[in-house]
Amino acid sequence: MSVRIKKAVFPVAGLGTRFLPATKTVPKEMLPIIDRPLIQYAVDEAIEAGCDTLIFITNRYKHAVADYFDKAYELEQKLERAGKTEQLEQIRHVLPKGVRAVFVTQTEALGLGHAVLCAKPIVGDEPFAVLLPDDLIWNRGDGALKQMADLNEASGASVIAVEDVPHEKTGSYGIVATDKFDGRKGHITQIVEKPKPEDAPSDLAVVGRYVLSPKIFELLESTGTGAGGEIQLTDAIAQLLTSEQVDAFRFEGTRFDCGTHLGLVEATVRFALENPKLAGPAREVMQKMLAE
Ligand code: G1P
Repeated sequence: MSVRIKKAVFPVAGLGTRFLPATKTVPKEMLPIIDRPLIQYAVDEAIEAGCDTLIFITNRYKHAVADYFDKAYELEQKLERAGKTEQLEQIRHVLPKGVRAVFVTQTEALGLGHAVLCAKPIVGDEPFAVLLPDDLIWNRGDGALKQMADLNEASGASVIAVEDVPHEKTGSYGIVATDKFDGRKGHITQIVEKPKPEDAPSDLAVVGRYVLSPKIFELLESTGTGAGGEIQLTDAIAQLLTSEQVDAFRFEGTRFDCGTHLGLVEATVRFALENPKLAGPAREVMQKMLAE
């Protein structure tokens, strides 16, 4: 048995160039799926997993993310006066009571590994989660991070979410090799960042959810630049494997790659069809369009 993770790190300092021109002023994490920004889905997943300290690694342009999690006194007052209790609850629930948000500025864009290292003073010496909000994971049952936190609590090992990807796509992901799977999990024996298909040890790709041992921080401190000239989290995990157990976990749920246009469309359709008020009309609109 290990301690239950309480802290979640959200690297949100990326430029979001795929979504320009929208991301000229709106951080990609603030793009909405129906009525909630992408970051809210990741935050809700972390809170469901038991986290009460949310650490956002931002850059100096991303005020919108901090503003979003701040209390909106004037808006709350207006909604209260207008008797709009449902909307009032919605904005109050952005960050539920007992959950705190901490913002750390990543002064230089040196890569995902460097972003995670920026959280070290807040995380300290305990296991913690990393969630990449671009990867939106939808599941009717427990969220992906809760599934992983349960596993980590039981085994004490680091846990990394994985899913099978088409062989020609290995160059877009961290790719792992594992021992034989026992149910949904297998011990990772190798991990490489964005290998070409001919160099990939498997087609099992890292998805943006990690539960990591705090040992990762000292390894990140000595991790040099890797793929794409960036300090890669994957490279520090490759080091971690040599001294600690790291498990790959095939989570239950569907991942939408909201770092791409199509992924954002897919997620929007999925959540529209899951929304009790929208499902019927959304289905009608889609059927009509498809018949055109
Ligand atoms: C990052 C990680 C990569 C992982 C991916 C999942 O890459 O470096 O290992 O597979 O997230 O979304 P990025 O998509 O930020 O380039």
